[in-house]
Amino acid sequence: MAGLEINGKAREVSADPNTPLLWVIRDTLGMTGTKFGCGAQLCGACTVHLNGKPVRSCGTPLSAAQGKKVTTIEGVGASAAGKKVQAAWAALDVPQCGYCQSGQIMSATALLTEKPNPTDADIDRAMAGNICRCGTYPRIRSAIHQAAGTKGA
Ligand code: FES
Ligand code: FES
Repeated sequence: MAGLEINGKAREVSADPNTPLLWVIRDTLGMTGTKFGCGAQLCGACTVHLNGKPVRSCGTPLSAAQGKKVTTIEGVGASAAGKKVQAAWAALDVPQCGYCQSGQIMSATALLTEKPNPTDADIDRAMAGNICRCGTYPRIRSAIHQAAGTKGA
């Protein structure tokens, strides 16, 4: 058994400690907003927060999340930064197919929590591990600036 705090709620999970957190979130807990893309920590689709820091849940064992605060796309809107990011995403109609967007929002929210006024370089650095096959990168960058109240280059 592992004790987790997911989106502010305590959950007990019965799974092998080496089980990827992504499997626990999607299959055991039935929260399907976090996506499986590559399964190899290369695409960012599975990004969640562990104690506020973005991690790839496909490569994070359940044991590493034990006793930490896990935030997923289902709970990210509870923070001020997450709420602003989601509002900007909706206002600028960022998603195309949408598959990568949970991960994009999680990485963007972690960035704005740490750096409320990011430059384009900050954004590029923070978002570099989140791949979008639809090429929504310009809208992602604009939405992060809109959420931050800053202007891009
Ligand atoms: S599914 Fe985890 S990084 Fe691609
Ligand atoms: S919106 Fe389709 S992969 Fe990013």
